[in-house]
Amino acid sequence: MKPRIESYKGTYPNIGQNTYIDKDVILVGDISIDDDASIWPLVAARGDVNYIRIGKRSNVQDGTILHVTRKSKKNPDGFPLIIGDDVTIGHKCMLHGCTLGNRILVGMGAIVMDGAIVEDDVFIGAGTVVPPNKTLKSGYLYVGNPMKQVRPLREEEIAFLKQSAINYVWLKDDYLAELEVK
Ligand SMILES: CC(C)(COP(=O)(O)OP(=O)(O)OC[C@H]1O[C@@H](n2cnc3c(N)ncnc32)[C@H](O)[C@@H]1OP(=O)(O)O)[C@@H](O)C(=O)NCCC(=O)NCCS
Repeated sequence: MKPRIESYKGTYPNIGQNTYIDKDVILVGDISIDDDASIWPLVAARGDVNYIRIGKRSNVQDGTILHVTRKSKKNPDGFPLIIGDDVTIGHKCMLHGCTLGNRILVGMGAIVMDGAIVEDDVFIGAGTVVPPNKTLKSGYLYVGNPMKQVRPLREEEIAFLKQSAINYVWLKDDYLAELEVK
């Protein structure tokens, strides 16, 4: 079985080297997924009315939904969804037309809305709701609905942001090896 990878208006997702895309994933349209990234079961991503980019070694965990905002008179570029390198997106998140930098952890069940910008090295707690057009500053923990900046990240938490991505690179390598055995 293969993941459902479909075109929208003739544009197909573009998938890098050594990526793991689970068979129960749906990817549609203008999506690019960079090397060593992993996309886990029941992720649905639609790059139809704008584009989606997922950086190197980033992981999008089970049940997460990725979508974008269409272009309009008020908002001529709309909002693509951009996820940088070494980003961990926990289970069942909703990322909609937002921009994430590098080395970020988005906790389970978090919602990040249109036009929000998350700078590098940010930790977003489980269940956090990031309202539209907010900027989350580098080096801080955010939690709550609506989100609040709680405190600067501890040294070990900053180190964990990168480690979490590495852990998922190792995990997806195990899964890729299983596929080779089958
Ligand atoms: C926020 C988080 C990082 C903990 O930070 P912390 O500063 O160590 O927090 P503590 O556990 O000491 O809790 C401090 C307070 O915040 C509250 N809290 C903890 N996590 C919270 C969250 N996600 N949202 C709201 N409040 C939260 C605690 O209840 C506690 O409240 P209290 O002081 O009234 O008792 C952690 O709870 C979290 O959400 N991690 C995300 C994990 C995840 O989703 N990983 C991805 C899966 S692979």
